[in-house]
Amino acid sequence: MVAATDNTAEESTANQPRHIAIIMDGNGRWAKQRGLPRTAGHQAGFKVARNIVEAVGKRQIEALTLFAFSSENWKRPPTEVRLLLDLFMSALESEVDKLMANNVHMRFIGERSAFPEKLQKMMNRSEQRTAGNTGLKLAIAVNYGGRWDIVNAAKQIATAVKSGDMELDDITIESFHQHVSLADCGEPDMLIRTGGDKRVSNYLLWQLAYSELFFSDVLWPDFDEAALDESIVQFSGRQRRFGKTGEQLEGAKRA
Ligand code: FPP
Repeated sequence: MVAATDNTAEESTANQPRHIAIIMDGNGRWAKQRGLPRTAGHQAGFKVARNIVEAVGKRQIEALTLFAFSSENWKRPPTEVRLLLDLFMSALESEVDKLMANNVHMRFIGERSAFPEKLQKMMNRSEQRTAGNTGLKLAIAVNYGGRWDIVNAAKQIATAVKSGDMELDDITIESFHQHVSLADCGEPDMLIRTGGDKRVSNYLLWQLAYSELFFSDVLWPDFDEAALDESIVQFSGRQRRFGKTGEQLEGAKRA
């Protein structure tokens, strides 16, 4: 895993990613192409998310982080927001037993206090139930924004400095990293964004510093295992230099 503190041990050519982050984009357009309401696109997108969780687990990848609801998604029509929240609730009802059976450790990142209390309770409960699982680490980003994550970390650090638990000089990249989401599971090796747009959209801004970026034109409900494998193959061929030269890395490999 690429730790913010130490990426010197990384191979110059990565093989299999250990942590994949995904922006699941294109549900609305997929539905529109079929003359369906946008909400049908989200329902289809949910089924694909379920398949991809299973596929990633089968490939012995350690962590998967899915962007399910951004802090900006509240701006969508209320009916669509409501459908998405209902979808999360029914997913929590129907999927947690399967996650248990597959040894998946699930958690949520983002500002969950904005959600209805019932949903928050379900989120907490599903995290507690799967906490002891040792397989795939699945994180679902909900009401998440990368800037929020960084501000949240800054607030925690400011509080520690104010109370005397931390000195100003203790604020380093490494200590800051401990306060952002996913600090315990390493940064994503790759980011996949479906749906054709080429932007990061306020996702994991701190954590994506050295991630390999993959943009696919496939709309999320059409994304499948073959598309996943294609991006993993592309990833394997990329040289990750982390600021070094290619020659340095080749030399280190020969040594
Ligand atoms: C972006 O497509 C997708 C979302 C905002 C929601 C993603 C949610 C799911 C895939 C279902 C729930 C998943 C889990 C894991 C519970 P868009 O609506 O922006 O599509 P568009 O760009 O074509 O309009």
